[in-house]
Amino acid sequence: MTSAPLALLALDRATRVCRECPLGERATQAVFGEGLARARLMVVGEQPGDKEDLAGRPFVGPAGRLLDRAVAELGWSRDKLYVTNAVKHFKYELRGKRRIHKTPTQREADACLHWLEDEIAVVKPTALIALGAVAARSLLGRHVAVMSERGRWHEDAAGRPVLVTLHPSALLRGDPAQKAVAWKAWLEDLSLASAIFSARQIPGFVREHVHHAR
Ligand code: URA
Repeated sequence: MTSAPLALLALDRATRVCRECPLGERATQAVFGEGLARARLMVVGEQPGDKEDLAGRPFVGPAGRLLDRAVAELGWSRDKLYVTNAVKHFKYELRGKRRIHKTPTQREADACLHWLEDEIAVVKPTALIALGAVAARSLLGRHVAVMSERGRWHEDAAGRPVLVTLHPSALLRGDPAQKAVAWKAWLEDLSLASAIFSARQIPGFVREHVHHAR
């Protein structure tokens, strides 16, 4: 094993006992990122859902199926990505026996941020995709109006390109009549990151796609 997978394994273990916010007490387990330890592209969601909490893996439930479908339609491979979440424990409220997703508070997302920063420091992705407002806020360090800032490259504090788009669960919730349109628009946003896999010159990619896009 090279050092990046080992470092990620150590971080994974550490998040399992994290109690820096209250969410760890109620979740089944922490859900750490997974994928290629030196992926060029890191995809960041909000937090594990019900299925992810039980499986211990990110994006394996309904939102994950949409992500997988998009990855296939774009001709990407999930093996080439590193997929993670801004918050590592599932936040929910009980309705009867059902566990209903609750958006993490800013304080909870902030408490979890150092785990995400550690993952980024190990994986060293060329670019990141923020799925939804919580991921975008964690990556860019400011409030992000996803609907007006989607489909564009932004830059994090370290100068890394961050593509902002909707969280796939927004597509699950959307108006049925608009679903095909929303799907196409989401794929268009994501397709901006396709160049990451073909770019031979990564600094050139950043100059061309981020700095010129402003
Ligand atoms: N939604 C997310 O943001 N992340 C997951 O892992 C699953 C659903």
